[in-house]
Amino acid sequence: METIKGKNILLVGGTGGIGSRLAKLLAGSGATVFITGRNREKLAEAGTLAGIGTERQLILDITDAKAITETVTRVQEYGGIDILINAAGIGIIKPMDKLSMEEFSQTIQVNLMGSFLLVKAVLPGMKEAGKGLVIHIPGVLGKVPMAGAAAYAASKYGLVGMMQSIREELKRTEIRITNLFLGGVDSPFWDGIDLRVQRDKMVVAEEAAKAIWFLCQQPPSGVVSEMVLQPFNHQAI
Ligand SMILES: NC(=O)c1ccc[n+]([C@@H]2O[C@H](COP(=O)([O-])OP(=O)(O)OC[C@H]3O[C@@H](n4cnc5c(N)ncnc54)[C@H](OP(=O)(O)O)[C@@H]3O)[C@@H](O)[C@H]2O)c1
Repeated sequence: METIKGKNILLVGGTGGIGSRLAKLLAGSGATVFITGRNREKLAEAGTLAGIGTERQLILDITDAKAITETVTRVQEYGGIDILINAAGIGIIKPMDKLSMEEFSQTIQVNLMGSFLLVKAVLPGMKEAGKGLVIHIPGVLGKVPMAGAAAYAASKYGLVGMMQSIREELKRTEIRITNLFLGGVDSPFWDGIDLRVQRDKMVVAEEAAKAIWFLCQQPPSGVVSEMVLQPFNHQAI
């Protein structure tokens, strides 16, 4: 395993169920972690939990292109970004007769356009350094369809296609692209989703975070292009 001690990691969505636990693991391994979220109180809570100071707790809404550029520039002042982890995302799961155009658009804006803007902002620095690692979490709904997931799956399939294409562009560099396909993880993500699922049978958020922590420590001689981590079965019968 490659040490992450001293590496600069930008963790977008560091206030989430997975992100907040990941922040603690990464900081605990000696990485210099910058976390983002939209809410100052949630950021402070995640920062305190992980031992990340206020100067590295950054307010960011990833639907705001200008704010993304400013955030990336600010982190780069600390000596470049070694790893970008995008753990931000929203889940609107509704059948077509209930799904509005606004909800579809919002899902694409956050999950797909936000990811695009983040990658676009960090790539020049990584290209200059000749290396880097970008981790996204499309989830299994970026690979297989599900009833009610028209908006969410569109955003996550799009994310996968986008990152696979970018990977082709970067073939001659040492910039590595990893897509993590998680199944149901018990986190606040599910709080607003009206679906018959058994949260106690989902992957525990801490374990999902450990998978990403592991991905960050892969030696540069190889790349984990994909990882799949799913619960056995969390669909209610
Ligand atoms: N949980 C699952 O079952 C599961 C399965 C597969 C894939 N995933 C993916 O894994 C990622 C993390 O999920 P999670 O379970 O940790 O979800 P979560 O607990 O709901 O956390 C979501 C995170 O996304 C951030 N976020 C939402 N909208 C944002 C925006 N417009 N700009 C910036 N940040 C925004 C939230 O920040 P605020 O604090 O500002 O709200 C929060 O940090 C998501 O991409 C999700 O699609 C989750």
